[in-house]
Amino acid sequence: MKVDFYERLWIIGAAAMIAAFLTAIVWGARMHAVHPPSHIETLDPLTVNTTSEFAAPGVHIDDDGSVVVTAVAEMFRFRPSVIRVPAGKPVRFRMTSPDVLHGFQVVGTNANAMVVPGYVSEFTVTFPRPGEYLLLCNEYCGLAHHQMAGRLIVEEAAP
Ligand code: CUA
Repeated sequence: MKVDFYERLWIIGAAAMIAAFLTAIVWGARMHAVHPPSHIETLDPLTVNTTSEFAAPGVHIDDDGSVVVTAVAEMFRFRPSVIRVPAGKPVRFRMTSPDVLHGFQVVGTNANAMVVPGYVSEFTVTFPRPGEYLLLCNEYCGLAHHQMAGRLIVEEAAP
């Protein structure tokens, strides 16, 4: 088969680009521990509602005085459905799912994470002002995905 000189150049160029991109993916995963967009902490999804820290989700104060929210995203609700946190303090969210992939987005803020079964998603955010925010699932998770919502209420911090 005769391949034109310029066509041969294009084939070699395209193959080199594919090789470079694949190398970048593998190199990033191996050398920089690139992993799914959740915390690398894992747990068995079957234990979420019985034996893990997520069996009784809610807001609590950790030993060091920090505010921690443990929450479960499941078909088709958040537990707790209403979360109350203080304004002006760092709030650490820890979330997981017992069933499928969900999203956890506090609308109008930069609090937004994927909630992946088998993983604990964690992020810390400070809400500067008191207010009420809509909590949404932004990953399609089933027929009632559009009804999966909750409320986050940021309260004036106690003096
Ligand atoms: Cu949960 Cu969409």
